[in-house]
Amino acid sequence: MNIEDSTAWRTWLAQNPRSRAHAERASRRVPSGTSRSLLRHPPFPFYVERAAGVTSVDLDGNERIDCHNNYTTLIHGHGHPVIRAAIERQLALGTTYSAPGAQEYALAEHLCGRVNSVEQVVFNNSGTEAVMVALRIARAVTGRNRIAKFEGGYHGATDFVMVGGHGLPAPDDPVRVSEPHADVGGLPAAASTDVVLIRYNDAEAVREAVARFGDELAAIIVEPIQGAGGVIPATAEFLHVLREETRRTGIVLICDEVITLRHAVGGAQGFYGLDPDLTTMAKIIGGGFPVGAVGGRQEFMQSLDAGGAVANLGTFSANPMTMAAGLAAMELLDEAAIGHLNALGERVRDGLRAVIAALGLPAQVSGAGSLFQVHWTRQPLVDARTAERADPDLNLLTFLGLANRGVQLSMRGIGALSTPMTTAIIDTLIDAFADTARELRADGYV
Ligand SMILES: Cc1ncc(COP(=O)(O)O)c(C=O)c1O
Repeated sequence: MNIEDSTAWRTWLAQNPRSRAHAERASRRVPSGTSRSLLRHPPFPFYVERAAGVTSVDLDGNERIDCHNNYTTLIHGHGHPVIRAAIERQLALGTTYSAPGAQEYALAEHLCGRVNSVEQVVFNNSGTEAVMVALRIARAVTGRNRIAKFEGGYHGATDFVMVGGHGLPAPDDPVRVSEPHADVGGLPAAASTDVVLIRYNDAEAVREAVARFGDELAAIIVEPIQGAGGVIPATAEFLHVLREETRRTGIVLICDEVITLRHAVGGAQGFYGLDPDLTTMAKIIGGGFPVGAVGGRQEFMQSLDAGGAVANLGTFSANPMTMAAGLAAMELLDEAAIGHLNALGERVRDGLRAVIAALGLPAQVSGAGSLFQVHWTRQPLVDARTAERADPDLNLLTFLGLANRGVQLSMRGIGALSTPMTTAIIDTLIDAFADTARELRADGYV
């Protein structure tokens, strides 16, 4: 069936006339109607008017349970009263200053107390900037130029990491280490030639990359649970070999915890017992405001000292609004809150898998802790190569079908839970998925 004839598509058009009109109007001034490339999708996105707790409401008055949470950022949902109070307190004291504020120390102290490998931290405005600065520290400390990343890993929007996310080798291709393709147009050629791409979750691939390029590598950047690469957790052996090999050869190991910090009180690195040299953080540590942070061992972080080789810039870096909201959010995210989130995560993964089994769907569910992803493929999921096999039309139809039923995941089927959620919310999500899958079946898709 032509996708435009599907029930999901037709229902979308019927439910979202105001968003459709807004998309047409906005597209005259903003390319494709939104600045955020990743939020564009056919036929047009719904535009959010307001959000509170676990739900958002769009221009047409449609209410949806938000299991997207701005790509895993809003770990306490929308407008948590404790975070709001912190924001209002800070608002009265000023939004940004012309000299350092005292607020950043409190969040830095909190993060250093949580994450074992983080002895010092600097803040900036996005995970993108955090990764950029971490890579610069690694180049400055090692005097080397190249970096390595893993297939499917997304580490923000700077040139040297916007490669190797898509168009990966086939799952049965024996190549383990390669030169990455650019993920977007306009990158300098060096973004491919200066980056080594390694297969994820493959200890042999790490050994091969280090044997071939070790002397030239400033850093290897890794997510302990790949987010955009399919919400696929690393194996303990893979991370162990990665740490051993990088330590032996003087390569800076950067653990990108922009998404995974939520996994345990000490981040996913605490859960795995990984001891990286540098850690990048963002999303949840800003309490709903733009944020990024680089932390790590003092011997690496000292290159950011006055007179050191590397600078952490940004007019709004460590701005007091973000620092206040971030501290409130992180203080709320204690052991009990993470236990609640991760138990809900188990429930959602189990429930979705039960639907898939009962209906015999060509799908799987990956994830860990409070993150999950539905993949429309039967290929066993071990890395981004296998995740990339998922059917993009079914992803879109599932996204539309769920949103038509009042549940929002990401366009690629990623969900991130928030602390105000309950088992009843999770069961609503599972029921919406079952109804969506039945509709796909009735339309002849699965
Ligand atoms: C693992 C990871 N690193 C870095 C980034 C970039 O963060 P930001 O979008 O705040 O620039 C992201 C964003 O999704 C991410 O998932």
